[in-house]
Amino acid sequence: MKINARLKKIGDLVEANSSCLDVGCDHALLDIYLVRQNKNIRAVASDIAEGPVEQAKRNIKRERLEEEIDVRIGEGLSTYTKDINTVIISGMGGRSTVAICKNNMKIFRKIDTYIISPNNYQEEVKRFFTKNGYYIANEEFVRDKRFIYQIIIFKKGKKKYTKKEYFFGPVFLMKKGPLFREYYEKEMKSREILISLLPNSFRYKKYKTKKEIKMIKNEIED
Ligand SMILES: C[S@@+](CC[C@H](N)C(=O)[O-])C[C@H]1O[C@@H](n2cnc3c(N)ncnc32)[C@H](O)[C@@H]1O
Repeated sequence: MKINARLKKIGDLVEANSSCLDVGCDHALLDIYLVRQNKNIRAVASDIAEGPVEQAKRNIKRERLEEEIDVRIGEGLSTYTKDINTVIISGMGGRSTVAICKNNMKIFRKIDTYIISPNNYQEEVKRFFTKNGYYIANEEFVRDKRFIYQIIIFKKGKKKYTKKEYFFGPVFLMKKGPLFREYYEKEMKSREILISLLPNSFRYKKYKTKKEIKMIKNEIED
């Protein structure tokens, strides 16, 4: 089955011998890709809704992978079992991602590695994980059609980050590269549009946004 560039990149970041819980698996295309990698990866495809779970089951059956992929229905981390060491949450908003973790903090803390690819509010996601016993082990960009997505890997441990590192991502700041530049050029443009649309009464929001634009300019122009 065909997998898009975003899910393929996430799959490639999963370590060999991992036991994964894919929260919000939808069609389970990622899980099918994972178990086909010859990296001894076990996958649990899990979703809150019946429609996606049925679709996941159909896709897994078509690929004859019923023995390799376990499909579970349930909210967020509630489908966890003791064998899981890696949780993947991708393609959701950053705030929904954090809410899923907050809903079950006892299970949240049992996980060694999180592979998270939020569509927005990445800074809030980074702040939540690092406040709750994880550090940012890796960050990657992936281009899929017209969009560039962030993938953030959190592992158990403590590290302190500056405001700038929370904003850009500590690993992204070190690696930079063409996708970093393109991603933040777009971020800068969307902020410039926002400033032009905001009424003058939003003085603080305008001030904050202008500061962010300056910070982005400094990083992409050196
Ligand atoms: C936009 S899709 C993302 C699918 C896939 N993870 C990806 O990256 O393409 C979001 C999926 O998450 C599921 N979902 C939303 N909230 C959830 C929750 N609290 N627990 C489990 N699954 C959830 C939805 O039913 C949907 O199938």
